[in-house]
Amino acid sequence: MRKPLLAGNWKMNCTIAESQELVRQLRDQIGARDDRDVLVAPTYPALALVAKELEGSGYLLAAQDLYWEDSGAYTGEVSGPMIAAAGCSHVIIGHSERRQYFGETEETVSKKTQSALRHGLGPIVCVGETLDQREAGDTLAVIERQVRGGLDGLGSEEIGRLVLAYEPVWAIGTGKVATPEQAEEVHAAIRGLVAKLADDATAEQCRILYGGSVKPDNVDVLMSEPDIDGALVGGASLKAADFARIVAFQS
Ligand code: PGA
Repeated sequence: MRKPLLAGNWKMNCTIAESQELVRQLRDQIGARDDRDVLVAPTYPALALVAKELEGSGYLLAAQDLYWEDSGAYTGEVSGPMIAAAGCSHVIIGHSERRQYFGETEETVSKKTQSALRHGLGPIVCVGETLDQREAGDTLAVIERQVRGGLDGLGSEEIGRLVLAYEPVWAIGTGKVATPEQAEEVHAAIRGLVAKLADDATAEQCRILYGGSVKPDNVDVLMSEPDIDGALVGGASLKAADFARIVAFQS
């Protein structure tokens, strides 16, 4: 049985004080859950103080990105050891906004994934097709290329430490959620690919999240699909009541 993971990607939102306040509200409204994992991904400056707010909650902390070198003359970048020391257990890698606006490629996703693993961080590797690619019938080919690219060179044990997130680009921040059937088709394909790249046992335990306009009113049907193991939530993760309802999904 895969433990569901509900992850809030706060993107470029919230000051440090606002981030702390949001965590306090989440703790109030979600409480303790040991049947599902709750994760938040604030901005870099807020990580260490959010980590303090999370103490005793059992919730997980992720950064939204990292650079693959450990230290050095890379102005503006933040490394794996730094986010691990700030209290992160996970890191989001290859989000479509980074692919779209910041030149992320399969090669950089792969380097970042390897760096995260080296530093004991759980990579949450994001993949997803654009609307043009979906309409051209290329969805599964695009996803396969992104998963193969991101996981390049990893062994089964390392793949077993990953979380994958399927986030169709056309569904992110648009209010257009994939239907449960559309999402399930891709999730099942990703699991099949993980079985090929690693083995059946690794594929069976690998958590695959859906992301893209997940809201309180659609999370239950999405989570009813057999291969959807959680959600990566943007907009709705900034409202404590909405995220609390998403965490409390019923399938
Ligand atoms: P959204 O973002 O929930 O606002 O669509 C999801 C994501 O980008 O992770």
